[in-house]
Amino acid sequence: MSDHPILFLPGPTEVDAELREIMARPLIGHRSAGFVDDVQQVCQRLKWLYQTSQHAVFESAPATALMEAAFRNLVRPGGRTLHLVCGAFSERWSKIATDCGRKPELLTVPWGMAHDAASLRQKLASSPTFEAVCITHNETSTGVIEPLQELAAVVRDASPSTLILADVVTSLAGAPLNFDAFGLDLAFAGTQKCLALPPGIATYALSHRALERARSIEGRGYLLDFVRAVPETEAGKTLATPCVPLLWALRAQLDRIATEGLARRFARHIAMQHETLAFMHQWQIEPFVADSAARSPTISCLKASGRDVRQLAENATKAGYKIDQGYGDLKGKTFRIGHMGDHTVARLQKMLAALLR
Ligand SMILES: Cc1ncc(COP(=O)(O)O)c(C=O)c1O
Repeated sequence: MSDHPILFLPGPTEVDAELREIMARPLIGHRSAGFVDDVQQVCQRLKWLYQTSQHAVFESAPATALMEAAFRNLVRPGGRTLHLVCGAFSERWSKIATDCGRKPELLTVPWGMAHDAASLRQKLASSPTFEAVCITHNETSTGVIEPLQELAAVVRDASPSTLILADVVTSLAGAPLNFDAFGLDLAFAGTQKCLALPPGIATYALSHRALERARSIEGRGYLLDFVRAVPETEAGKTLATPCVPLLWALRAQLDRIATEGLARRFARHIAMQHETLAFMHQWQIEPFVADSAARSPTISCLKASGRDVRQLAENATKAGYKIDQGYGDLKGKTFRIGHMGDHTVARLQKMLAALLR
């Protein structure tokens, strides 16, 4: 058994010892030449991870900071946004729009389902132009992955001036994402999910046209003012003191991901999803998401299927693992396994065997 509980949560997820050791190094000043180079190297590598030739930077903050910054930079006060809601996190993003004084409209599907291109096209055709459409690529509360590329294509076609904002918090580095090819304007994620690092840094990619749009929006604030933060960070000079140890670990992790290769990394996540679902099937435990195409490769949400979810979580804990007992209204009715980041099929098999016997 490991010396600590192994996290199969939908985030934070398990951090390899090699990365933990990097974070324990003695601190250096964030304006030293070596660190400026680290910041620039991370930005370069993030461009590769997001698959963009436009902008990719980071801030020391949870991903929620970017959910808010999205509106403060890219939507005028009082401006209209459309939210593709399919669970708790996509719903929360729409509430943040209200909190920021924007006017969100919701296109909601029942929890456990993904959006389809036709309904989005119909919504866009029957509404005045939205300033932005907000899509949660991987809805962590339900284990649904949205057809992001297809949905973004609909927005680009039906409403070319509308910006496309994507929460890729639980998909970045775990599921295919090509910022430029998908035609996105903003995408963001925290470090504590498929990047398999502690929480504390949010990375984001931004399109040229989104940065231009930001110049025309008033009240963007300071720390997450894209117009100020993006060029400064790209030049290696963060606006405020960043989380230095985590940035080092991020640099190392991006190199490790490059060594594994994105295609292999995504295939490993799919293999872990298949392993989980096949195992549950043997025990008559059903996936919460009926449509197999909408099932997330990074998080499996399972129906309790007559089992006591607390007992399952307890079995996991006794064997040295942590799993989740369902989110919000789904607590106790479902449980979730985060098979993301640096987990392997072999380690997953051991955890699954301990859950049910
Ligand atoms: C899809 C999604 N969006 C946003 C967030 C918020 O991220 P953070 O806690 O880093 O602010 C989460 C956290 O679990 C999430 O799963």
